[in-house]
Amino acid sequence: MHVITVIPGDGIGPEVIDSALELLDALDVDLSFDILDHVNAARYRREGCALSDADVARVAASDGLLLGAVGTPELEDTDYVRSVLLRLRGDFDLYANYRPVRLWHDRLSPLRDAARRAIDCVIVRENTEGLYSGVGGNLRASSRMEVAIDADINTWHGVSRIMDFAYQTARREVCLVDKANAVRAGGRLWQQCQRTCAQQHPEISSTHLYVDAAAMNLVTDPSAFDVIVTSNSYGDILSDLAAALAGGIGLAPSASLNPATNFGLYEPVHGSAPDLAGKAVANPLACLLTAALLLRGLGLAAPADATEAAVAGAIAAGRVTPDLGGTLSTREVTSAVLAGLG
Ligand code: NAD
Ligand code: IPM
Ligand code: MN
Repeated sequence: MHVITVIPGDGIGPEVIDSALELLDALDVDLSFDILDHVNAARYRREGCALSDADVARVAASDGLLLGAVGTPELEDTDYVRSVLLRLRGDFDLYANYRPVRLWHDRLSPLRDAARRAIDCVIVRENTEGLYSGVGGNLRASSRMEVAIDADINTWHGVSRIMDFAYQTARREVCLVDKANAVRAGGRLWQQCQRTCAQQHPEISSTHLYVDAAAMNLVTDPSAFDVIVTSNSYGDILSDLAAALAGGIGLAPSASLNPATNFGLYEPVHGSAPDLAGKAVANPLACLLTAALLLRGLGLAAPADATEAAVAGAIAAGRVTPDLGGTLSTREVTSAVLAGLG
C-alpha cells in the first residue's frame, strides 16, 4: 500500500484535486491518502504559516505528494508560495521537474501547418537553484538608492544531475536551452555538463539553443523537440508556452522528482486560476494526467496508461471544459474520463 499526501491548496486546486481523487478511487490501485486540506492561503493569513514542520513530517512519511495549486492574488507580495511549494521542492530535494507536453488531439493546436503539430516533448526543468535560490536581497530598501539582487545560482552538483536526468529521459535528442551569449558564467557550466553527458550518451543527439530562439522554434515547429533541459526560470516560462501550443495549460501535468529517493511532488503546471475558482469549469485533465504521472512514478504503469487513454478518449469525443472549446463542467469531464476507463 502506498500512502500519498494530498495538498489541495487554493482556488481551483481543491476542485481539480477532487477529480484526481475520484479517478484514483475508481482505479484498482492500492493507495491511501493523507489529506492536508488546511495547507492554504486562509491559514497563512490567519497564522502566518501554511505548511508547518508537522505537515512536512507527514509528507516525509508518505510515498508521494499530490498538490493542486497554491497562491492567491492577495498574497502575491509575501513569502506564501515560497513557504509551501518552494519549501517542499527544497526540503525533499526535488531537483528534476518533468513536464511532458503532448498534443492529445489535432484540433487543440493553434499551429496551422499539420506537419508541425506532432507535439510530444518533455521540458526538464532544474527545480532547486537558478533564480529561485532565494540568494540576494534589498539594500537600502524603499529608497531611491534601493538595490535589489536575486542571484542566479548554478552549481556543478545541480547542473550535472539535471543534465544526467535529461539524458536518461531522452529518446532521441537533448536540447540545452540557455542564454550563454549574455549570461556567461552559468552558461559555461551548463554547456560543460552537456558535453560530459554527450560523450556518455553517443546515441542521443545533443543540441543547443539560446532561450529566445528556443521560444521562437517552439512556436514555429514544436515537433522538432524531444527533451529540452534548462534552468528553473526558463523552464517555468517555456513550459507554459509549450502547454499553450498543445491546447492549453488546463492539460499540462508536472512532476517534481528526486530520482535518488524516488519521492515525487506531482502537481499540474497551472496555478490556482482565481478567475475560475468556484465556477465549476476548471479543466481537470491536467490534474488527471498528473495523477497518471504519480501512478507511473509508483511503478503502476497499467492504471497510468488507462488514465491517459481515457483522457484522450474524452478529448476526442469533445467531452471537455470551455478552455478546450467544450461546454462541460469539471465534474462532467471527470465523469467522462471515469466512464472511459474501461
Ligand atoms: P494560472 O495558471 O492560475 O492561470 C493562468 C490562466 O490559465 C488563467 O486565465 C486561468 O483561468 C487559466 N487556467 C489555469 N488553470 C486552468 C484550468 N485547469 N482550466 C482552465 N483554465 C485554466 O496562473 P496565474 O494566474 O499566473 O497564477 C494564479 C496563482 O497561482 C498565483 O498566486 C500564482 O503564484 C499561483 N501559481 C501556483 C502554481 C502551483 O501551485 N503549482 C503554479 C502557477 C501559479
Ligand atoms: C510552477 C509555478 C511556480 C514556479 C510558482 C507558483 C512559484 O509557476 O510550478 O510553474 O514558478 O515554479
Ligand atoms: Mn509556472
